[in-house]
Amino acid sequence: MSLYREHLDTVIKRADLALAATGFEHLVIASGIEKFRFLDDMPYPFKTNPQFKYWLPLTRHPHSWIIHTPGKRPSLVYFQPDDYWHVPPSAPSGDWVEHFDIHIIDSPEQAAKFLPQGKSAIIGEADAAIGEFAPNNPAAVIHHLHFHRAFKTAYELSLMRKAQRNGVHGHLAAAAAFNAGESEAGINLAFLKAARHTDSDTPYNNIVALNENGATLHYQYKSFDKPREHRSLLIDAGAEVDGYSSDITRTWTNGDTRFTDLVNAVDKEQLALAAKVQANVDYRDLHLECHLRLGSVLKALDIVDMDPGSMMEAGVTSTFFPHGLGHPIGLQVHDVAGFAADESGSLIPKPNGHPYLRMTRTLKPGMVVTIEPGIYFIPTLLHKLKSSKHSAAVNWRNVQHLTAFGGVRIEDEVHCTDAAAENLTRDAFREIQND
Ligand code: GLY
Ligand code: MN
Ligand code: MN
Repeated sequence: MSLYREHLDTVIKRADLALAATGFEHLVIASGIEKFRFLDDMPYPFKTNPQFKYWLPLTRHPHSWIIHTPGKRPSLVYFQPDDYWHVPPSAPSGDWVEHFDIHIIDSPEQAAKFLPQGKSAIIGEADAAIGEFAPNNPAAVIHHLHFHRAFKTAYELSLMRKAQRNGVHGHLAAAAAFNAGESEAGINLAFLKAARHTDSDTPYNNIVALNENGATLHYQYKSFDKPREHRSLLIDAGAEVDGYSSDITRTWTNGDTRFTDLVNAVDKEQLALAAKVQANVDYRDLHLECHLRLGSVLKALDIVDMDPGSMMEAGVTSTFFPHGLGHPIGLQVHDVAGFAADESGSLIPKPNGHPYLRMTRTLKPGMVVTIEPGIYFIPTLLHKLKSSKHSAAVNWRNVQHLTAFGGVRIEDEVHCTDAAAENLTRDAFREIQND
């Protein structure tokens, strides 16, 4: 059986369970519609409903619908307009076609005649409505579907491995552009070309930060100006394959000893944490362990002279590492249900004092999470530390030196299996560098 067929069987089984648990007869999923700028006829890049692309590798298909009724073959209402302004979707093709009853429509309203009567869970944005047939997004159905999306099928893992490879090609080209003295925008273009993406194909706005800009966690600009010195590059950029994302960060240096030592130390802790992505590990414990490990790095590199436990207790590690260890990833970069206790929507709380953690679940085989520790020199947070009682423990000369480099983040995707962790990102780097 093809990986896709197996995947679809799993998706159908999960849909059947969600409908049975919530009392709906049909699951109907709208792909979504194109959105336009206010008072304008310019569309934003179309991004489909993640629940839609869970069923099919179709990401460029507005006005289409999936209809599932337990016990029946799923149907697809496939919008294929007669359009000479844009390239319309081509005739359905691919592995998935034989598994659906397909109805081609050439105007959005024609979908109405294929949409089911009866009690439907209709998942989509409000503007996908066709007359009275409007998305109702029952929370109970969505919680159920989201909870199970954490467990990736073999088909999903194969696409995620491809997304790693494309992203890694981009990262290697970006590193070369950094070494060649390119601007942030130039480095981004090198990434995009090697990853075979345009700017709007990437799963998120690439973070391409030279020098101090690396201290802004989600630095959103890309300057065309080349700085006088290329001290460091923090690049957080991924690729997308058939709707599945990668989310990879690397930090490159110009060879400054203190910053290189910091990058190497974070890399070592990152690898150790990634190896701990194992069944039955509470991700919250890994996050707290990350604080202790980064506290040890801050101490060993003479940045903060406190013992790591007290550093964490006092919130000092949070000055340098003010985000979470990572998040689930898949159809969405920050994938759904990172806090889900079960299928009902009840939540697993975050540890006190860690508001930015995006994942509190216990790891189980099939989950894929990012592991992304970092140490940053963020002026606004350092300013607060300087005026706190812990200021005396900080080696401000070292901090000042490192502030010119912005920060370090190393981010991989890691698959929890029955045995050792599978580091999708490191595997892709290894494969491509040995090719
Ligand atoms: N690229 C966003 C993140 O790492 O979560
Ligand atoms: Mn991430
Ligand atoms: Mn990232």
